[in-house]
Amino acid sequence: MRKRVVILASGTGSLAQAIMDATELDIQVVAVVSDKADAQVLERAKTAKINTSVIELEGDRAAWDKQLFSQVDQYQPDLVVSAGFMKILSPDFVNYFPTINSHPALLPNFPGAHAVRDALASGVSVTGTTVHWVDAGVDTGPIITQMEVPVVPGDDETTLHERIKKVERGLIVATIALITPTLETISR
Ligand code: GRF
Repeated sequence: MRKRVVILASGTGSLAQAIMDATELDIQVVAVVSDKADAQVLERAKTAKINTSVIELEGDRAAWDKQLFSQVDQYQPDLVVSAGFMKILSPDFVNYFPTINSHPALLPNFPGAHAVRDALASGVSVTGTTVHWVDAGVDTGPIITQMEVPVVPGDDETTLHERIKKVERGLIVATIALITPTLETISR
């Protein structure tokens, strides 16, 4: 049975697109869920005829956490992939759904929402990308895979992030291929 995958994303969705296009994977992307109604990733999912859901945060965080949990649970995923989802997931969520995240830096260095900018500001000559299991911390879950990306003289946040994303797209697909055989079907 192909493993059921829900993708969480807030923006452009190029990582989600790489996963949706990866027909070699033994998975079925059953939905794309976003916290932004105008996220381009939703258009990509609709074009691929994949279900979409939008849960925008309107103040009450606890209510939003519950809504996100039930919206994702209705798709009965075996794996949740956070691919550019810019919200912290609740402990209830990550303790119930096996969830991985793609982060644009070599964790534990440069965790958080400004990883590319922080790496650039620090002057490192090499940064990279990490795919890790998500726990209740911010980018602190067990690392699964990593790849290095050079910082090139003259880089700004945009040029460096684009170079990292090129590597991220390949690594998130390879990592899903790596862990899929190990995934258990969540018994409900
Ligand atoms: C990726 O670099 C991811 O690591 C970060 O946001 C970016 C999402 O890219 N959190 P895209 O929207 O999939 O193109």
